[in-house]
Amino acid sequence: MQVIKQYVDQNKDRILNELFDLLRFPSVSADPKYKESVLQTADFVAQKLKDAGADNVEVCQTAGYPIVYGEKIIDPNLPTVLTYGHYDVQPPDPLELWKTPPFEPTVRDGKIYARGACDDKGQFYMHVKAFELMMQTNTLPCNIKFMIEGEEEVGSSNLGIFVKANKERLKADVVLISDTSMISMENPSLETGLRGLSYLEVEVVGPNRDLHSGVYGGAVANPATILAKMIASLHDENNHIAIPGFYDDVIELTNDERKELNAAPYDEEEYKTDLDVQALWGEKGYTTFERTGTRPTLEVNGIWGGYIGEGAKTVLPSKANAKISMRLVPNQSSEVITELFTKHFESIAPPYVKVKVTPHHGGEPVVTPTDSVAYKAAQKAIEESFGKKPIPTRGGGSIPIVALFEDVLGIKTVLMGFGLDSDALHSPNEKYDIFNYYKGIETIPLFHKYFAELSK
Ligand code: BES
Ligand code: MN
Ligand code: MN
Repeated sequence: MQVIKQYVDQNKDRILNELFDLLRFPSVSADPKYKESVLQTADFVAQKLKDAGADNVEVCQTAGYPIVYGEKIIDPNLPTVLTYGHYDVQPPDPLELWKTPPFEPTVRDGKIYARGACDDKGQFYMHVKAFELMMQTNTLPCNIKFMIEGEEEVGSSNLGIFVKANKERLKADVVLISDTSMISMENPSLETGLRGLSYLEVEVVGPNRDLHSGVYGGAVANPATILAKMIASLHDENNHIAIPGFYDDVIELTNDERKELNAAPYDEEEYKTDLDVQALWGEKGYTTFERTGTRPTLEVNGIWGGYIGEGAKTVLPSKANAKISMRLVPNQSSEVITELFTKHFESIAPPYVKVKVTPHHGGEPVVTPTDSVAYKAAQKAIEESFGKKPIPTRGGGSIPIVALFEDVLGIKTVLMGFGLDSDALHSPNEKYDIFNYYKGIETIPLFHKYFAELSK
């Protein structure tokens, strides 16, 4: 631990400045206008892996954005850790809500503000620096492979193909990912599951053109009103999802599991204050932790139609649209849910509109083991660097590729995230605490140490 702390301390400015350089690339995978920057980010990551001491570094081309690979094999008989992360980020919009520009990292109050600061540049880069540390201090105790992709935020569709085509190259004993949250720095935790996802877009079409809302309004159904009604009907009065068959495959938690989950510290007042809401909302009969971690949900991610520009325009729109996503839990399948949704949504369409449902991307839920050597190594590493045993939690987010690592490579994952839910991931003013960044860099070498030791 002394060696680790000393290395971080002696290099702390450079380690931080390199992250700032990485954050300056607007690597937004969703928007083609950022294409050049996304590609440059891949090259930057590859160079940093080389500088840190990785061999066989390659910017692997795909049908989409490249995957950066690198490795250090010190002894084929030693265990191997496959580190996964993503260098792409979410779009920064709405720009006007950022206090400082999203791609000009700025420190305020000990926190780095930038798009990707936490999700996931700040977090995967800790692994690059921890690797450099182990190389420089001659303490790398196992083999290590890196796979950093550029399409996580748009569904990782090409990563699946890459993984299937590179089974041998990606052989490892565990996948290690820092792309999730902890409860707080005082209450370190390890996520032991991720939700799946079914994402789709719906369109409700009424008359064949936009109409004068005075001339035709009242006689022709307004698609925006119909869409709003249809969406509202997707939850019942208890906030259960009202799609027939939706819950059929859901595994209910045992009472013991629920008890353990709810034992984690949670301050409802603080939660509400942080979000500036007066009351919470959710499925009846479940706590906040259960609602976000263990229950499936349905959210409208965007809704539009008609005139949304400046001023007023009296129009009866010809169509209305929405983006809708459902978070899934074990043992639901994104394909089944997408189909159930589609059938249901079509069936509730009244005769005065036509409805179209277009699936986007999906991902399967996962539960990661808590009795594995790798999980125990993560527990020990966190306990040593934070001085407190981590609490197991279930994360509400999704990293669809984790289920694929299990299915295709047969490798389980450890989710050792150092972010906070309040880091404003995907929101304006995303941040990452400098403390967490250094803490992560200190904890990761301990994971490798204990993983190698416990694997013996
Ligand atoms: N890092 C997040 C997922 C996450 C965040 C998990 C916080 C647990 C806690 C990841 O980058 C992400 O945003 N995933 C998307 C899914 C993807 C298919 C767009 C998500 O969860 O919406
Ligand atoms: Mn992420
Ligand atoms: Mn994300």
